[in-house]
Amino acid sequence: MTYLEESKQQLEALQKKENIRILAIETSCDETAAAIIENGRKIISSVVYSQIDMHALYGGVVPEIASRAHVEKVNRMVDEALKQADMQLADVDAIACTYGPGLVGALLIGVSCAKALAFAAHKPLIPVNHIEGHICANFLTHEALQPPFACLVVSGGHSHLFQVEDYGQYRIIGCTQDDAAGEAFDKAARVLNIPYPGGPLLDKLAETGDANALKLPRPHTEGKYDYSFSGLKTAFINAVHNMRQKNIDFSDADLAASFRKAVVDMLADKAMQAAKDLKLNCMVLAGGVSANSLLRREMQARCDKMGIPLYMPKLSLCGDNAAMIGSAAYFRLKKGQIADLTLNAKPALRL
Ligand code: KG4
Ligand code: ZN
Repeated sequence: MTYLEESKQQLEALQKKENIRILAIETSCDETAAAIIENGRKIISSVVYSQIDMHALYGGVVPEIASRAHVEKVNRMVDEALKQADMQLADVDAIACTYGPGLVGALLIGVSCAKALAFAAHKPLIPVNHIEGHICANFLTHEALQPPFACLVVSGGHSHLFQVEDYGQYRIIGCTQDDAAGEAFDKAARVLNIPYPGGPLLDKLAETGDANALKLPRPHTEGKYDYSFSGLKTAFINAVHNMRQKNIDFSDADLAASFRKAVVDMLADKAMQAAKDLKLNCMVLAGGVSANSLLRREMQARCDKMGIPLYMPKLSLCGDNAAMIGSAAYFRLKKGQIADLTLNAKPALRL
């Protein structure tokens, strides 16, 4: 019997099993992570090794360094996730991994590791889209959350507005035409000499500043629900350089607060407009930038005003982790979406 035939047989049995436990691996960027998730909703164990310190020196993620660190850490993360769950590899029902989008060399480490484990332990292999993983972080945070809902996914590589019609069923409503929101935060932070990744520290600094100190443009986009952050980022960087050249005294906190407000306004305006126009009466946030304190407050205020519920991942699940991949994998498994050993990394995978 081939590996795939065996997996399909197991899949049939798993469709009837009450508690399904999936071992998930995430290596799409600069976090090496593994987790064990039960029925897409419960975290049995979750471990994340962050490579940030290695990349901070270079002001951004260096793909070769990321791949090497994943190779060195991935097996240890898997062992740790199993140990914390008090389980053996034989006890898990399936193996999942992120296969895109992300850095090709980084993705390949997780995909290769998952394939080897799945083959050796005779377990089905489930490929997961990283963006879908971010959305599913909410299923781990909010037990009762169910589609349909609108979802704003904002991270270092993506800014998307989705209509989540059902589990695993997405309709894209809008997306960024240039930089992602997280990328814009990181680049704005860099001009304020905040080390990579600057988003979280810029957010903290902004809490003490005046958001009306610096007037920034609100760029126009063709698509009604599309985003554009490149012009805003350039306007901000130019304004800072200008003030420095002219020796104008300014407060970093005021600048950070002004930039953060401009990004959050844009994100919130379009997300709420889409919810209103398309009559989507439930709003969800996802991705690294969903940890932004102003975005969380602003979206809460606007959703309260519109009378719709807002769901956000808990802070520990906003950034990259494997728990969210294990959640997404469960819903894929339920639909019979498994892979064979020809699975490859897809750096430009879309949802
Ligand atoms: O989802 P994520 O961990 O990785 C990607 O899939 O890209 O997102 C990382 C991004 C980085 O750009 C980081 O600066 C940003 O999320 N980020 C934040 C905050 N926390 C993380 N941006 C603004 N405010 C935050 N509090
Ligand atoms: Zn991510």
